Amino acid sequence: MAKSSGSDNPVIEAITEKSIESAVAVAGHPIHAMAVHFPIALVIATLGCDIFYWWSGDEFFLRAGLWAAGFAFVTGVAAGLVGTAELLLVAGIRGRVGSWTHAIAAMTLLAIAGMNWGIRLVDETSVLPHGLILSILASIFTGLAGYHGGKLVFHHGVGIMVSTKE
Ligand code: HEM
Repeated sequence: MAKSSGSDNPVIEAITEKSIESAVAVAGHPIHAMAVHFPIALVIATLGCDIFYWWSGDEFFLRAGLWAAGFAFVTGVAAGLVGTAELLLVAGIRGRVGSWTHAIAAMTLLAIAGMNWGIRLVDETSVLPHGLILSILASIFTGLAGYHGGKLVFHHGVGIMVSTKE
């Protein structure tokens, strides 16, 4: 799907004429948009586990935090691979600065999420304070990545596939 920006700038006009339709979708549903809910929820769940462990000292939250951090990283990498495919394959996505801003925020998030899981695998008790600090940082970067990702969809119309039946 291409649309005109109505801009006088020929560079912006050339980018808006390129396709922004998702290249990795099932039955018209972009997979990246469906997949990102898992890392978003699990990063926040890890932070919740760390806060409850800090508050209660209950070791249940150490184990739950380890699993939440692990799945946050693994599902984040999976979502990131699909997002990277969209970024590289679709010219109108590749050409937008906002796509790269989102990708940088998301990759920083994945690096933090990986470290957050890694330190727990090596030493479960490293949650206080290092795990908690990483969980707070990961949550901030989830917000940044989510904000810029959402802007791509709701502001630029990236990845939206309009059915020819409608
Ligand atoms: C690491 C590399 C990543 C790249 C290159 C990337 C790229 C993209 C692209 C191109 C879009 C536009 C929609 C589409 O084409 O499907 C998008 C949307 C989005 N991304 Fe990512 N992404 C990455 C990782 C992540 C991660 C880890 C998260 C989780 C925090 C995330 C959260 C989002 C959100 C929330 C949207 C908006 C989806 C919607 O509301 O429909 N992305 N991303």
